Amino acid sequence: MFIRTEKLSYTYMPGTPFAVKALREVDLSVARGSFTVLLGASGSGKSTLLQHFNGLLRPREGSIHIDGAPLTYRRGELRELRRRVGLVFQEPETQFFSETLFDEIAFAPRNFGLSPLQVEERVEQALHQVGLTDPALKQRSPFHLSAGQQRLAAIAAVLAMQPRALILDEPGAGLDQAGQQRLLSLLQQLNRVAGMTVVVVTHRLEQIVPLADHFLVLHRGRLVLEGSAGEIFSQQKVLQRCGLSLPPVMRLMQVLADAGLPFSPAIHSLEEARREINRWQKKVTSP
Ligand SMILES: Nc1ncnc2c1ncn2[C@@H]1O[C@H](COP(=O)(O)OP(=O)(O)O)[C@@H](O)[C@H]1O
Ligand SMILES: [Mg+2]
Repeated sequence: MFIRTEKLSYTYMPGTPFAVKALREVDLSVARGSFTVLLGASGSGKSTLLQHFNGLLRPREGSIHIDGAPLTYRRGELRELRRRVGLVFQEPETQFFSETLFDEIAFAPRNFGLSPLQVEERVEQALHQVGLTDPALKQRSPFHLSAGQQRLAAIAAVLAMQPRALILDEPGAGLDQAGQQRLLSLLQQLNRVAGMTVVVVTHRLEQIVPLADHFLVLHRGRLVLEGSAGEIFSQQKVLQRCGLSLPPVMRLMQVLADAGLPFSPAIHSLEEARREINRWQKKVTSP
């Protein structure tokens, strides 16, 4: 198991009248090479949980294990952890600080003490991975890129560390349809081709379900569901109680399943639904 939490609890501003219990005894695991989607209504603790995965937050109670060893939060260990587990914040472009795109991507590799040539290689590779291949872009201000390019640049800045896992907090938020699509195919490629472990918070279920093999659902700081698409989306009542709205196709499949027809609520796309309905129709109309 790559990441495992054990009774992880976290409270903001503990011991004050403003204390907020954001995570409550969360037990979960993320396998190496898996593609995990973290779901939950706003305020359910998703961002708080992600920040534990690369050591930005430290559990108040419970523990996190990476590669089987519990985190001890020593400085050297944290530095290594942040290199291995790259975290892309929500609206990451708000944290740009360099004058050029090149410098923005080069920041982490330079910090590792790589030679200028190695730094350049890392930058080239990261920009290539996210598809920002126009050489003119490198000397542009990262602030002057389009919204979609900025998001890709922020991901490239994390990829330049060559992490083994990529954790993304609502990476598609605010992007148009084309930007969303680009982003999803990038994540799919990083997971399937580069073998990277991906954990992502997103509300775009219809698009993400075919990519993901593992789902986690948080509700008010508790982990209420964990499993495959089939296991999660057959629990639509629970999901609704958690404040999650499901794509209409999934809801329709649930209605049909409730009526006793052989459809799985994990059918997430119109094309798949059409195929399944055709198959069923052939079966019931064949003599
Ligand atoms: N820096 C903070 N200080 C105090 N409370 C916070 C802070 N960040 C988040 N919270 C609270 O913790 C809970 C979980 O927040 P968060 O992890 O951001 O949820 P999500 O990402 O699912 O929307 C919410 O009640 C939120 O108001
Ligand atoms: Mg959040």
